[in-house]
Amino acid sequence: MLSLKDRIYTNSAIKAPPGSKVVVAGWVHRLRVVGKICFVILRDREGLIQVVIKRDKSPQMFDEASQLKQEDVIAVKGEIVPSKASIGGVDLVAEELVVLSKTIAPLPIFPDDWEKTSLAKRLDWRFLDLRSPRNLLIFRVQDKLENAMRHFYRENGFIEIHTSKLVAEATEGGAEVFPVIYFDKTAFLAQSPQLYKQMMVIAGFERVFESGPAYRAEKHHTPRHLTEYQSIDIEMGFIEGPEDVMDMVERATLRALSEVASSYSKLVKELLDVDITLPKEVIKIKLTDACRLIEGTPTPCPSNYDISTEHEKAIGEAVANEYGTDLFFITDYPWIARPFYTMKSDDNPEFTRSFDLIYKGVEIVSGSQREHRYSKLVEQMMEKGLRPEKFSFYLEMFKYGAPPHGGAGLGLERLTMTTLGLKNIREAKLLPRDPERLTP
Ligand code: 4AD
Repeated sequence: MLSLKDRIYTNSAIKAPPGSKVVVAGWVHRLRVVGKICFVILRDREGLIQVVIKRDKSPQMFDEASQLKQEDVIAVKGEIVPSKASIGGVDLVAEELVVLSKTIAPLPIFPDDWEKTSLAKRLDWRFLDLRSPRNLLIFRVQDKLENAMRHFYRENGFIEIHTSKLVAEATEGGAEVFPVIYFDKTAFLAQSPQLYKQMMVIAGFERVFESGPAYRAEKHHTPRHLTEYQSIDIEMGFIEGPEDVMDMVERATLRALSEVASSYSKLVKELLDVDITLPKEVIKIKLTDACRLIEGTPTPCPSNYDISTEHEKAIGEAVANEYGTDLFFITDYPWIARPFYTMKSDDNPEFTRSFDLIYKGVEIVSGSQREHRYSKLVEQMMEKGLRPEKFSFYLEMFKYGAPPHGGAGLGLERLTMTTLGLKNIREAKLLPRDPERLTP
């Protein structure tokens, strides 16, 4: 009798020696009846295998198989038989077939037809959409990126933390917050773990990281903004400058990209037609110098250097032409464009000890050295129009021994999107949220 306990994935089944008996289970990907033979392409997480059901062997099994529909769920026990024209050069000749689940309505979308289906409809039927091997691959790559970073930071002495996503105040100037009814008060969904990760450095953890959700009430509809995204944050104490943070971010990013390249470059090429190439070098360029590169173009930087995504894209192209790399840091952003906690530059207080990491023309990381001197921090808060008394829990930390520190936040979906050349960030989020979408 067929038992699911004996089940192996299709990628192992196609490698099994001819003559072996195996059990596979999955979804009916394709079905074809030719005379007295029924051919079922069975799909599981790891790939496809052709199952052959012969009428001569069992008329009853053949009848059952002929009535299968795309996306029915089946389990098959059979023998591996060489077959040059089949997937992996083998067929699975069925000896037992069990129908585990039947589709009970016409399919609203066909997983394989993702290219012909609008993104909105695909997202409405996300569980079906994700059955496309191409779409599943996006999330395997994302899993690899996140885990590579997690390992990297752990190896470099960072402690993983989980901070509250219910907060009393906004932290990232400019980005809007979602209010939440919190008993008799209004709370907000955290835009970033910013203040808490700083708190843990000051609490003596020295180096922390967190991978968690961040919420932004961004009303605009763009291909690179979500209202909920996964933020990989780090914060480190006893730094000499933002370069120490940049170095860590650079190494983590390269590690993540190289792990994806070594595990998935062949599949990514096959299913997404993208080459995962590691950048030759990661350069650092001051924002004012980067802006010089796009002077005289249709999108020159504004005179106050508060640049937008169009400028980042143009700078990305210019840097690629000039320096032959698509992964680089822009440093020294103006004070008007950065949050209150950012440390100002020593030589010019109009600028800051900050940076963004740009990959293929898209900002994937933002970071800085933080202001750790109490009186300067209060001053900066007031400059940004914030009321220090609202941040007393945060400010208190700077009165009792706060080492110089800095950190950065990386958007996991942005990294996934750029790595895989996706046109819309929603493709890189399992269940994207935007101003219109709250389901599924
Ligand atoms: O530039 P942001 O807002 O910086 C912070 O949150 C700081 N607390 C980080 C720090 O440690 N200084 O966001 C950081 C990153 C961006 O570079 C981007 O990758 C991602 O988070 N991000 C978004 N991703 C998707 N949708 C959005 N609406 C995003 N907003 C930011």
